[in-house]
This record gives sequence, structure tokens and C-alpha cells, in this order.
Amino acid sequence: MNLYIERIADILSKRDDPPLCYVHSFGCQQNVSDGEKILGMLCKMGYGVSADEESADVIIYNTCAVRENAEQRVYGLIGGLKHLKEKNPDLIIGLCGCMAQEEKTVEKVRSTYKQIDLIFGTHAIQEMPRLLYEVITKRKFVYDTNEYKASGSEIEAVRSSSFKASVPIMYGCDNFCSYCIVPYVRGREVSREPKAVLEEVRHLAEKGYKEIMLLGQNVNSYGKNLSEPMNFAQLLRRINEIKGDFKVRFMSPHPKDMTKEVIDAVFECDKVCKHIHLPLQSGSDDVLKRMNRRYTSEQYMDIVSYIREKDPGFSVTTDIIVGFPDESEEDFKATLDIMERVRFDNIYSFIYSRRTGTSAADMPDGISDEEKSERMTRLLKLQRSISEEHYKRFVGKTLEVLFDGESKKPGLMTGKSDEFVIVEAPADESVKGQRKKVKIIKSYNWALYGEIL
Ligand code: 5AD
Ligand code: SF4
Repeated sequence: MNLYIERIADILSKRDDPPLCYVHSFGCQQNVSDGEKILGMLCKMGYGVSADEESADVIIYNTCAVRENAEQRVYGLIGGLKHLKEKNPDLIIGLCGCMAQEEKTVEKVRSTYKQIDLIFGTHAIQEMPRLLYEVITKRKFVYDTNEYKASGSEIEAVRSSSFKASVPIMYGCDNFCSYCIVPYVRGREVSREPKAVLEEVRHLAEKGYKEIMLLGQNVNSYGKNLSEPMNFAQLLRRINEIKGDFKVRFMSPHPKDMTKEVIDAVFECDKVCKHIHLPLQSGSDDVLKRMNRRYTSEQYMDIVSYIREKDPGFSVTTDIIVGFPDESEEDFKATLDIMERVRFDNIYSFIYSRRTGTSAADMPDGISDEEKSERMTRLLKLQRSISEEHYKRFVGKTLEVLFDGESKKPGLMTGKSDEFVIVEAPADESVKGQRKKVKIIKSYNWALYGEIL
């Protein structure tokens, strides 16, 4: 065990009541996965888990820097922690994740948010015990934004779910899409050794996990610099051979690296869910070029055609950015056009957010915020009508659904089908965490309704 985990465990063991920690992760699944590792280390030290900030002795905010509103939310929340610190001066407050990797955050926190004791960047997860030990023993502000290699990759996580788990297969990103802060805050791409990935999946399958999400900023470029050569398609096939009653998803692949070999593996591996999330970002070739995405709309369509030739009803979802600098009405219409051609099951859409340090941050932008919001409204309206029409293909079919909780409507449980569509069905709590066959009776523009067989 890590020396500093032991040292803190020793200090905590002398306390009468076990102290509590609260770890909150914002943003993407990679962050959630990091947060589970941070919680894993804190639990090893002897911290119990608090349901909220109020009763915690250590609060860690694991932050996201992808869009400005995520950052503002965090600053709002840490502002609100000031009164907790005044009530309990022994409270330790830490900031980590993508925002914490940026020097500007460290400066802002030091000048304005004195209630923060500890900052560690995305590369320094495994340094957290040492830093926390310093805070506990010296009661001083500490921070570490150094770029350690493959930080935290083999730390054991305390997972929030007993049936869904994510497994990082790579860290960082080499793509430098012009709008994106990730390559700056998560560093260069490093793939995890296949042996470690396969062992973790095997372990989760043995523990009865039903769904495993393979994570990476660009999963289909998996395999650079490995000691045992392996590409993403081969990794999927190797995971498919692992025994157990589980399914696999992955997020996110990049269109520029999407090979037929990967798509073939998705179709041929029975454990891989029949759904691909393939971020498009824009349907305009000019915008794609200025985004540095390195594919054209036609190349994107070629991938979709290859998938749909194999299965015309195959589920595809995407990410779209609205209002990239100087996106013209014509550019925006090209996005609407490709949405109609692909017929996505769902889209995750974002208004462009300027990120200091990225190359798009310096691009002139003559499009007003009102125009951007108005485009977003049009985009969502179109997607609702596409989903409404497209989801009808499931009515009368039987889908496999992993139930994960209660619906807001009484008497119904909700889950996701293998196709990544929300499905609701009359059932009780006992189906939570189970994969069931559901006969689909009705479709809406956001979900399906059916009966468990
Ligand atoms: N502004 C808006 N959306 C962004 N994304 C990434 N960076 C930005 C940004 N600066 C979106 C992309 C990506 C998703 C995870 O977040 O669509 O695929
Ligand atoms: Fe950001 Fe592009 Fe890397 Fe995705 S592929 S993390 S959008 S730079």
C-alpha cells in the first residue's frame, strides 16, 4: 500500500468516529472513473463516505473544463463551501480534475478561494495521498500540477454502481481539435497495456458486473506505444472472449480513425452492444476543417453507410457543437442536413464555448449569442422529430434492457437497451441491475415503453 495512505490511516485510526469524505465528479465518464479511484484511496485511508458536503471532513471536487458553464458551476459551489469552512476549520477542501490542471485555476484559487487546501491535476491522482498528508500534518495549502505518466491507472476504484463499470483503456488525447481543452489538461495519448485492461474486465465480469464501458478520448486509436501490439478491434475481440454475463460499450471513437475492422468487430462480437457513439461535431466541411477534425462530411457518411449496409436499423448517436466561430447559416444547415441523412437515435449538443489556450479561442466570431441559441433550438426540434420517427422501428421488437433505476413515473423502472435507448417498463426495484428482455409497445421521441417478458 502507498506509504502516505498508511500514514493517514494511522492518524485516522486514533480518532473516535471515522471521518467522512465526499467526492463529487463533474463532466465526462473519464472524470467519474478518476473520481472512483480517488474515493478508493480515501476509503483505504479509513474515510467513510458522506452523502453530502455538510457532514464531510474532506470534500473533493473533481472538475471539468470542457465548457465554461461547468467551470462557473464549480466556482459557485466552492464559494458556497466558505461557510462550512468557517463552521469547521478542520474541514479539508480539494480541487482536482481538468480545471485543476490549469495554472490559471491555481492562481484564481490562491487569490480568491482561500477555503481550498489542496489542488492536484489530472496527472497527479496517485499523488493525492502525499498531498493530503501534507495538508493534514502541516495545515498549509498544497498543489501539484506536474505531468506524471499514466497517473492513477492501476489504483483500485470504489465504484458507485454494482452492475455498471467503466474501464479506461487510454488516457489523454493527441488530436487537438481546435475548440477542445482536453489535450492541454489531460496530456498526450497513452494506451493502457492490454493485459491490465483484460484483467480488469475479467475481474469485473467475475464480480457480476453487467455492463462495462471502455473509456478513452479516442478509443479507436488505441494501441500506440504498447509493448504488446494490439489495436482497438483486436482488443474488442479479446474482451469478447472473456467469460461472463456482461456486455461492452465504448466511448468515444473518432471518425478519422474509424476502420472497417472496428465496425466488423462490433458486429461480430456478441458481447459488444449494437450501438456506436460517433462524434460528428458539424456537418459543414469548412467548419470541420477549422475544427481540425480531419474528416469530411462525406467520409463520415461513408462510415455510417458501411454500418447501415450491415444493419439498416443500427443505432448511432453523436455529439454536435452549435455556433463554432463564424459558423454561417449555410454551415449550420449542412449539420441539419447530415442529421436528416444519418437519422441519429440521439444527439448530445453543445453551444460552442471559448476555451482560452485552444486555437479556436483566437478565431474571429461574428455570430451573436442569440443566433447560436436560436440554432440550438432548431437543432433540438429537428432531432426530436427524427427520434420520434426513428424510434418507431423498435415497436413490436424485443430488446435487451439493463434496468438501472426507478422512472419518475410511479410503477415504472427505467434502463437502457443495448441500442442505448431509454426504455421504461412496469416493474419493481428487483429488476435494478438486471438485463431483461422487453417487448416494446410504444415509442416516444425520447424513450421506449414496453413489457418485460
Ligand atoms: N465547446 C462546446 N462543446 C465542446 N465539446 C468539447 N469542447 C467543447 C467546447 N469548447 C463537446 C464536443 C465533445 C464533447 C465531449 O464536448 O462535442 O465531443
Ligand atoms: Fe477533444 Fe478532439 Fe481529443 Fe475529443 S478528440 S478529446 S474533442 S481534442
